[in-house]
Amino acid sequence: MPYDISTMEVGDRPEFSAPDPRILETLGEEKFRAFMSRFYDIISEDDDVAHFFPQEGPELEAAKQNSSDFFVQLMGGRKWHDERRGGKNMEYVHRRFSITPKSREGWLHCMQQALAELDLEQELKDSFWNYVEAFSKHIVNVSIKKTGTYEEMVKV
Ligand code: HEM
Repeated sequence: MPYDISTMEVGDRPEFSAPDPRILETLGEEKFRAFMSRFYDIISEDDDVAHFFPQEGPELEAAKQNSSDFFVQLMGGRKWHDERRGGKNMEYVHRRFSITPKSREGWLHCMQQALAELDLEQELKDSFWNYVEAFSKHIVNVSIKKTGTYEEMVKV
């Protein structure tokens, strides 16, 4: 049963809770990193979001590591992201990219698939999902607004 993705407006900053630390306790760091790796592999095959991300090689491995470091730290594990990335702010690191509500949906679809494949109790998967569903709204930084027809727009 796929998770719901709630709609949003650019600028929404809903409250969120960090994923349950028991996710990391249950899986251990190695299995959690394997899950993130699978997530990035799913992304790289997704027509809606693949273009944002490195597709292969050391760049892809670094992206997997940076994200895993962040989540491990967020769930109470070693402060990898502080140590290796200086604990960079998430809104700031995503500002290099134009991320629309639609990009968020594409990213979340990949996450749904990765979670569906993960062997973990449902309550813990739900906790992870609730975090990414809400926090991903903070990452969205542009909207695409249609302002009118071509004829209307070329007049301005
Ligand atoms: C809950 C939502 C999200 C979280 C927690 C998250 C987390 C992260 C983290 C930790 C990094 C690595 C930062 C660093 O250390 O430099 C990262 C990189 C990135 N994220 Fe996100 N992200 C989220 C949503 C999204 C969405 C919706 C998109 C767009 C579809 C996106 C696109 C990217 C891109 C393009 C990178 C850079 C990849 C690279 O290293 O080359 N993220 N994200």
